[in-house]
Amino acid sequence: MTAPTTDRFAAPRPMPKPGILDIAAYVGGKSKIEGVAHPVKLSSNENILGSSDKAKAAYRDAVDRMHIYPDGKGSALRAAIAAHYRLEVERITLGDGSDEIFALLNQVYLEPGDNIVQGEHGFAAYAIGARACQGEVRFAKEPGQRVAVDEIVKCVDERTRLVFIANPANPTGTWLTGEEIRALHAALPPSVVLVLDGAYAEFCTDPRFEDGLDLARTAENVIVTHTFSKLHGLAALRVGWAYGPAGIIEPLERIRPPFNTSIPAQDAAIAALADTEFQQRSVALVEQWRPWLTQQIGGLGLEVTPSAANFVLINFPATPGKTALEAEAFLASKGYLVRAVGNYGLPNAIRITVGLEKHNRTVVELLREFLAR
Ligand SMILES: Cc1ncc(COP(=O)(O)O)c(C=O)c1O
Repeated sequence: MTAPTTDRFAAPRPMPKPGILDIAAYVGGKSKIEGVAHPVKLSSNENILGSSDKAKAAYRDAVDRMHIYPDGKGSALRAAIAAHYRLEVERITLGDGSDEIFALLNQVYLEPGDNIVQGEHGFAAYAIGARACQGEVRFAKEPGQRVAVDEIVKCVDERTRLVFIANPANPTGTWLTGEEIRALHAALPPSVVLVLDGAYAEFCTDPRFEDGLDLARTAENVIVTHTFSKLHGLAALRVGWAYGPAGIIEPLERIRPPFNTSIPAQDAAIAALADTEFQQRSVALVEQWRPWLTQQIGGLGLEVTPSAANFVLINFPATPGKTALEAEAFLASKGYLVRAVGNYGLPNAIRITVGLEKHNRTVVELLREFLAR
């Protein structure tokens, strides 16, 4: 337990504020396997096609400007985003990845004792940021591994300041229709900020899906975040953005670190946004292989959660010899890195990024081998 605040001055060494040492640090997908030089990394939902050649060229061109500060407002990138999505540029803010925007939102809205609401299997970064602000995290039940509007609403009380919804969600891959998002928004008090995290939005091609930008245009309490890490394959460069009403964007801008996106990152993101051919190829690959993986792995007798993202969640039995953790270890022993998601309240599941054809076929064969052992 952390010492109460009043004891901190008398402490023999600096003490973090209450709650900090109770936070479990974010665990990312593994990137190494002992003894394997080039593992196939399907553990972090990155873009298996890499990144756009145009983005790479823009990144290289930035090399002679490493000694100067970036444009702190990211004006050119914000203008490019505004033009691409037909948005008002002054209502866009940039983040060092969308992760930073979640952290800033928590800082802007949470006082100690306030709370955020998210799904029980929701993305870990929301909760870490909230707890760092001494906020409480409320986890709404997700029947069938899917966020349910009524369960979210049940968790909201007078101390709720933010509701975080990833749509599609990570690690389940499930999603809410535009109608459900609008119903959720209608059920929330106007003082509660609805954060719609669209990290995987481009991979959901169902016509009933809406990314929430229209809602954020008219509502005073909705903000939509996007990232260049997934579709655009720029995870290493750390660029996220958000679109919302002035009342939310303006306070974020006040506390945002002044140079939070670098020159190479801004330039590469602008080039990536213009490379629609790369984006289409990335979505097409997922659209082709996601249903194939779902069907093939389902055919092995494992339950695959229907996904609208660039990964699938596979549910394993708890039978010794056939568990999710053993499957993760077996795949690693064959050079394939996947992600067990016990820390998301899913101890019997692994999440696998949709790969290239050869990866997908190998994953199915390895799972067949694993189950037959
Ligand atoms: C649901 C969700 N939101 C946001 C992010 C983080 O995105 P970024 O790389 O922009 O920080 C991830 C990354 O895995 C994610 O799964």
